[in-house]
Amino acid sequence: MASSRPPLALAVFVGARGRGSNLAALHAATQQNRLKARIVLVVGSRAGAPALERAVALGLPVAVVDSKKTGEEGYADALLHALREAGVDTIALAGYLRRLPSSIVSAYRLRIVNTHPALLPLFGGKGMYGEHVHRAALEYGVKVSGCTVHFVDEEYDTGPIIAQRAVPVLEEDTPETLAARVLPQEHAAFVDALQWLAEGRLVVEGRVVRVLPPLPPLSAR
Ligand code: GRF
Repeated sequence: MASSRPPLALAVFVGARGRGSNLAALHAATQQNRLKARIVLVVGSRAGAPALERAVALGLPVAVVDSKKTGEEGYADALLHALREAGVDTIALAGYLRRLPSSIVSAYRLRIVNTHPALLPLFGGKGMYGEHVHRAALEYGVKVSGCTVHFVDEEYDTGPIIAQRAVPVLEEDTPETLAARVLPQEHAAFVDALQWLAEGRLVVEGRVVRVLPPLPPLSAR
């Protein structure tokens, strides 16, 4: 029963250069009961990163796991330790640019969700982040772009798609103006996807994700 499900215990992974706008959108949604989740940890790779500063300002617990300090071999273990300590059951990647270690993907299979600022499978893959994505879309000449929220697998941007939202591409667009049009759609799609997960409404068949209809309120059953 959706109503008896506990809130997600969410870790949000942020990037070294991100602003943390997706983190802030997820946090606001939890505060406004649009997202049944508690952000129990914000994970970054560099102390002082803007998104981590934002997390601290929001009063969220923060962990810095820096592969330069742990070494590549120790990185996955350090991450897993931090996630387990905080009781994390779901991970949201919000600007995290590395490929997640496969041991983390296995430990949290179909519990890791990423947002990408294009309509996958277009303009995804290694190195396709931020402005690079929007520049590629403009140079290709697409007339529509958007965002994709998807489950994370062992590769870059290839996991099953949960939600997509489209925006028009205008002739006068620059990477910055297109990014600004996509960003609020990312925030909304990210909240939707995580809320569907929280409600137990996502069914994954191969690489196709079905979103089940919401359960009626208890009073109507
Ligand atoms: C977003 O555009 C997201 O799609 C990408 O990195 C950006 C992070 O932005 N993966 P912010 O730090 O959440 O503002």
